[in-house]
Amino acid sequence: MDWGLKNRLARIIKPHSDRGVMLAVDHGYFLGPTERLEVPRKTIQPLLPYADSLMLTRGVLRTSVDERYPIPVVLRVSGGASIIGKDLSNEKITTSVKEAIRLNATALALSIFVGAPYEHDSLVNLGKLVDEGEEYGIPVLAVTAVGKELEKRDARYLALSCRIAAEFGAHLVKTYYCENFEKIVNSCPVPVIIAGGPKLSTELDALQLTYDALQAGAAGVDMGRNIWQSDYPVPMIKAVRALVHQRVTVKEAHEIFTKNKEIEKTPKPTPITNPSYPIKAKTKSTKSKKTAK
Ligand code: 5RP
Repeated sequence: MDWGLKNRLARIIKPHSDRGVMLAVDHGYFLGPTERLEVPRKTIQPLLPYADSLMLTRGVLRTSVDERYPIPVVLRVSGGASIIGKDLSNEKITTSVKEAIRLNATALALSIFVGAPYEHDSLVNLGKLVDEGEEYGIPVLAVTAVGKELEKRDARYLALSCRIAAEFGAHLVKTYYCENFEKIVNSCPVPVIIAGGPKLSTELDALQLTYDALQAGAAGVDMGRNIWQSDYPVPMIKAVRALVHQRVTVKEAHEIFTKNKEIEKTPKPTPITNPSYPIKAKTKSTKSKKTAK
């Protein structure tokens, strides 16, 4: 691995903790205006200070993220199928590496669909993307997608997908948490991060899932819905961040969530907007008109 690629990876998986918090907001690429991500800028902006990196498409990046904000971008470059189409696994590379460089992307992301009708194409896409990415020192995140078959989220299937992704050269793999998660991590020679999946009933459930994944060896999260579909997204990402980097317990993380939620709920004092203030004081010139001449 060359210096540039290692440097980019270190912006995602932080060296101080060997872990990372990636905020996933790429859902629209096949789901359209996902609940609470209808106006991407509104969802993303308050969460930016608490994410190490941001995973999204070029469309949302260009339109909804301030280009002056220094957050590493993990650019989704695969797509081509929608939730109402025939087959979610029918993806191609939709954004070039040249464009990713123009957008100053730190990493490239694509989905692989092991066991699905377009398994072969998605794996060949991955191999080619790794070749191209490595030419420019840009790492590739492989997402082990399950399409609509959520029941595929078991250790046997996900270990197979993650291992294949690593064999094809992915530098980082994203998968779902499941029982026996250690099996996935131990048989995958590159760091594994977890997606949150569909919104769980409570924030505590999502924090527990995150904690369990980290305990089993996950290198962090690439989480979306369980953060921004919460009624309190900022307290939620702060709690997830504490689990990832400060290695707090679930109880401590939940306390962070609750404390920050209470702060958000506390009504802020309304600023006094007396129209007669501030009074523009009539300033007397210290210099007399004569001397001023
Ligand atoms: C979809 C993705 C999403 O980024 C991924 O599912 C993470 O988001 P969530 O935590 O909402 O599951 O890659 O293919």
